[in-house]
Amino acid sequence: MAKTKDWNVAAERLPELLRRMPKAELHIHIEGSLEPELIFAMAARNRVAIPYSSVEELRSAYAFSNLQSFLDIYYAGASVLQTEADFRDMAWAYLERAAADNVVHAEIFFDPQTHTVRGVDMGIVINGLHRACTEARDALGVDASLILCFLRHLSEQEAFETLEAAMPYLGKFIGVGLDSSELGHPPEKFAKVFARCRELGLHLVAHAGEEGPPAYVWAALDVLKVERIDHGVQSTKDTALMKRLAQDRIPLTVCPLSNLKLCVFPQLAQHNLRELLDAGLVATVNSDDPAYFGGYMNENFLQTFAATGLGAQHAWQLARNSFDASFIDAAQKRRYADLLDATFAAFE
Ligand code: HPA
Ligand code: ZN
Repeated sequence: MAKTKDWNVAAERLPELLRRMPKAELHIHIEGSLEPELIFAMAARNRVAIPYSSVEELRSAYAFSNLQSFLDIYYAGASVLQTEADFRDMAWAYLERAAADNVVHAEIFFDPQTHTVRGVDMGIVINGLHRACTEARDALGVDASLILCFLRHLSEQEAFETLEAAMPYLGKFIGVGLDSSELGHPPEKFAKVFARCRELGLHLVAHAGEEGPPAYVWAALDVLKVERIDHGVQSTKDTALMKRLAQDRIPLTVCPLSNLKLCVFPQLAQHNLRELLDAGLVATVNSDDPAYFGGYMNENFLQTFAATGLGAQHAWQLARNSFDASFIDAAQKRRYADLLDATFAAFE
């Protein structure tokens, strides 16, 4: 999308602009928004044992060396979720924080298999999350929808069983994604179940190129036929792939603090977000698992801009990309784009 104009904002006003600009979040795992305080409260009310004696002890365990070291703790944290109220309260807490960060639209991932394997019914998961999304529209001014993710370390057969269990709730989620351990679980493993979801008219996204090679991004595009790539930061290793992503305007939902905490980049200053934007890709900024990675949306923007020296024009592009990359209709995209321009105009 062509930029409307060059925005001229004084450097000292950039942090406030980053906070205030309207934005969409397209890569947030709702189970990754579960703060230690909420984990302890739910463990107590549901009488679930957790192997940590305090909130502080749990938080101090959040030192990760790669994706798998995080996933082990993330799945343990999610084990406290039992009732529809738990799922509603978790999503509500996220949506309140999103509203405070001027997130006006969110497309939220959830991992039903993490819960159904523990005997929690699919209806409890989806109805609880969906209730929070519905309430947020009026109470918080955040428009939110759900994307069901299949766990890629499990089989395609299990993904099909999950889809079957979710069929009664088709009106309550807008698409499917693919997450969990990437290496050794290429997109091709889920070709048939994604083809079925496509027939059902669901939107398709997949994590690819977080730790995995560019070949996984190609397969997500060409085999799964996804509309967006989650992460995708390894794409810069493949020039032909970069051309394809730019030409087809395939959005990447980039998560800088996640990449830092999972050691995808040694330091935020070395993150390749600027390279992705300079190549004309529809890159966006997102929080991934904010309770575990040290920050929600605005913290991702503030820390990344401070570390990499990105400026107001990049901020505008990233926010605009977030709306362009979302699954909302063209009229609503236009309204958000106008709101974004008005916010920037007020800062000049
Ligand atoms: N990658 C893969 N799976 C995940 C992630 C992630 O960053 N967060 C939650 N599940
Ligand atoms: Zn993710």
